[in-house]
Amino acid sequence: MARLEILEYPDKRLRLRAEPVEKVDDTVRTLVSDMLDTMYAAAGIGLAATQVNVRKRVLVIDVSETRNEPHVLINPEIVHAEGKLSSEEGCLSVPDVFDYVERAERIKATYLDRDGQPAQLEAEDLLAVCVQHEIDHLDGKLFVDYLSELKRQRLKKKAFKKVRRSANEVPPRQSISARLI
Ligand code: NI
Repeated sequence: MARLEILEYPDKRLRLRAEPVEKVDDTVRTLVSDMLDTMYAAAGIGLAATQVNVRKRVLVIDVSETRNEPHVLINPEIVHAEGKLSSEEGCLSVPDVFDYVERAERIKATYLDRDGQPAQLEAEDLLAVCVQHEIDHLDGKLFVDYLSELKRQRLKKKAFKKVRRSANEVPPRQSISARLI
């Protein structure tokens, strides 16, 4: 069991594109297990390998209230998307920022499971949003990229200021209904 460090905006490593996993071996399974530990410890509902500085197309998600229904998607691809849904998103890599992003309402994704077996996931609402948000991470994209230029400039200023201020000083996390993905 291990908790990994989560990279935070504006860290440039969050912009790197993850590579497909060629073989689902024990190294990948250990990564998956560490990512699940990290996600649960951070009270997040999703985490992509990019966020823990690993450039592999691996993501973990758990949107259940009981926190015991993990989805593990390796080399995920969205093969079908329909509908539109705007919901408030937050991200473990962009602390204290929450905003509305429009995504597909329903998706179908293909992926490899923890045993390397091909699998499919049909998802809607929160789970669908989460899969899209995490796949974006694997492509080096953050949810704040969807916000207006003005909002992004403000955010950048704030983030740089915070980095300069202190690396140890952690501002209190806002309690807000949006979940961290
Ligand atoms: Ni995120």
